[in-house]
Amino acid sequence: MNQNDLLNITYGSYESAREEMDRLLKERKRNYSLDRPLYNDPHMFRADMEEIFQKEWLFAGMTSEIPNRGDYFTMEVGQNPVLIVRGPDGEVNAFHNTCRHRGSRICLEHRGKVANLVCPYHQWTYDLKGNLLFAGTEMGDEFDMKAHGLKKAHCKTGGGFIFVALGKQEPEAKEFDEFLATLDEYMEPYDVDNTKLAVESNMYEKANWKLVIENNRECYHCAGSHPELLNTLQEWDDTNDPRASEEFLAQYARQSAEWEAEGIPHEHKWFDGGRNRIVRMPLKEGAEVMTIDGSQGCAKTMGRIKNRELGSMRILHLPNSWNHMQSDHFIVFRVLPISAQESLVTTKWFVHKDAVEGIDYDPARLRQVWDATNDQDRVLGEQNQLGINSMAYQPGPYSETFEFGVVNFMDWYSETVQKNLNK
Ligand code: FES
Ligand SMILES: [Fe+2]
Repeated sequence: MNQNDLLNITYGSYESAREEMDRLLKERKRNYSLDRPLYNDPHMFRADMEEIFQKEWLFAGMTSEIPNRGDYFTMEVGQNPVLIVRGPDGEVNAFHNTCRHRGSRICLEHRGKVANLVCPYHQWTYDLKGNLLFAGTEMGDEFDMKAHGLKKAHCKTGGGFIFVALGKQEPEAKEFDEFLATLDEYMEPYDVDNTKLAVESNMYEKANWKLVIENNRECYHCAGSHPELLNTLQEWDDTNDPRASEEFLAQYARQSAEWEAEGIPHEHKWFDGGRNRIVRMPLKEGAEVMTIDGSQGCAKTMGRIKNRELGSMRILHLPNSWNHMQSDHFIVFRVLPISAQESLVTTKWFVHKDAVEGIDYDPARLRQVWDATNDQDRVLGEQNQLGINSMAYQPGPYSETFEFGVVNFMDWYSETVQKNLNK
C-alpha cells in the first residue's frame, strides 16, 4: 500500500466499505461524477476488482498475437496472473497462471512460445490444454495427476478479439454472444488472422481505472488537449449527435454509401445499454487514417480492404477497452487496474501480416499520434485524480451533450457493481 492509499482508507473494514459502496451507488445522482471513495479508497478498489474485474468479461488481446500452437501472452488482472495460449487444435485457451504444486507463476514472460507449460520452480509440466503431464516421481504412487490440471479461465473470441472472465461462473452478460457474432461480421474485412502486432506500448497512469475510462468516453476535452489527434478525428461518434454539423452529415452520407457498396459494415450497433458498441465514423475530410497528417500508416491495406477512406470503426467494451479500426492498421487499447490510484494502459498497433517494417510502415510514425494522445490523457487523468483527492472535491455534473458516453459508463458500472455485490 502506498502513502496515497493509506491516506484514503475511509472505512473501518472491507465489509463496511462494500455496504457503503452499495449505498453510494444507490443514492448517487445520475449524471454526476462519483463520490470520492469510489475513486480512491483501497477497500472500494478491492470491491471493484472482486465485483467487476474478477467477474465480468475483460478484453485480453487479439488472436493474431498468438497465431501458432504454443504461442502465449500473459496479463495481470489485479493479483491474478492470467495466461492466454494457443492450444493444439488451434483454439485459444485461458488459464490462471499459477502452478497447482505450490502456486508459482508458470509463464514469467509477457509473451513467448512453448511446447508445454513448465513451471520454473520444480518443473511440473502441463500441456497446452492445462493437463498435468509430469510431476516428477517424488509425488508418490497415489498422486492424482488428473486432479492437478491448471485452472481454466472462461475465454471467448469474436472478430479476433479475445475476452476472458476469471470467476468460477461464466458471467451472465446480456447480449454478449450477439456482440461477439457482430464482431465476427464487422471485423471480417480485416482478416485478423492475417495481421500482426507491429507496435505495443505500456503506460502507467496514476489514476483510478474509472477515470481512465471516463476520460476516454468523452471528447469534451479533445479541443483543449489533443492537437495531434484532432488532425484526423471528428469529435462526434454518432450521426444522432446533436452537435454534428451539416458538413459532417453530408460526408457521412457520401462515405457510408461507398462503404455500403464495398460491403464494409458500418451501421451503429449497441449492446447491453452501451456496454458494448461498434460504430464506424468518418475521419476528417481527406484523412485516411489516424497518422499525424492523415495519410497512410502502412502501404498494405488490411484484409480485403481497398478503400483507404474507411474512417475509424470504434469498438467499445466496458470495463476495459476501446479500439480504432482503420483501413491500413488498427489500434486496440486495454486498461488494467493496478491499485486505487494507478492503472496500466496498453496500446497495440496491428498491420497486415506481410507488411514489412521500414518499407511498408514506420513504427515511429504509426504510433506517433496515439503516443502523444495517451500521454496527454495520462496527465489529464492524473490531475483529475489529484483534484478528487482534495477535501473540497464533490461530485460534479456531466454535460449530457458532450459527456453522454461517461453517463453510459457510470450507469453500467453502477448497475453491475450493485448487482454483483448483492449476489
Ligand atoms: S510450484 Fe510449480 S512445480 Fe512447484
Ligand atoms: Fe483524450
